[in-house]
Amino acid sequence: MDNKTFTMIKPDAVGNGHIGAILEKICSSGFRIAAMKMTRLTSEKASEFYAIHKGKPFYDELVQFMSSGHIVAAILEKENAVEDFRRLIGATNPEKAEDGTIRKLYAESMGRNAIHGSDSDENAQIEGNFFFSELERF
Ligand code: GTP
Ligand code: MG
Repeated sequence: MDNKTFTMIKPDAVGNGHIGAILEKICSSGFRIAAMKMTRLTSEKASEFYAIHKGKPFYDELVQFMSSGHIVAAILEKENAVEDFRRLIGATNPEKAEDGTIRKLYAESMGRNAIHGSDSDENAQIEGNFFFSELERF
């Protein structure tokens, strides 16, 4: 899945009414939405999605937060998608995120940081497959 990445608008940003502004920023930054859905994660699904962080001090809080409300999941297409999207969303901690990034603009805190972006081509593929069927992805 080169040139694709996976994103979720997290429950804080959905609840605060930022879906439209965030999608506008994503699209005006050159990403094409290849697949998208608004949905909710059960705590089981959130645990599975963030399994790599199991055992870390913030894991339970992360799972609780990610299953606390609606999210918007999407597969995005652009040349150099993974790296460019990580730059567009900004640092994990919004206080350290650059001006103009999605997290700087819309995140509340490190735990409630508005948006997810895949960190590698391999994870982009795994995460896209987690949310979307083959028919939805192509
Ligand atoms: P994602 O795009 O959501 O994967 O974020 P990231 O890649 O920038 O960060 P990482 O994968 O390391 O952590 C996943 C999520 O766990 C982050 O987005 C945060 O919401 C949360 N998180 C990470 N570190 C901390 C922490 O030290 N404290 C708290 N409260 N949450 C954290
Ligand atoms: Mg991550």
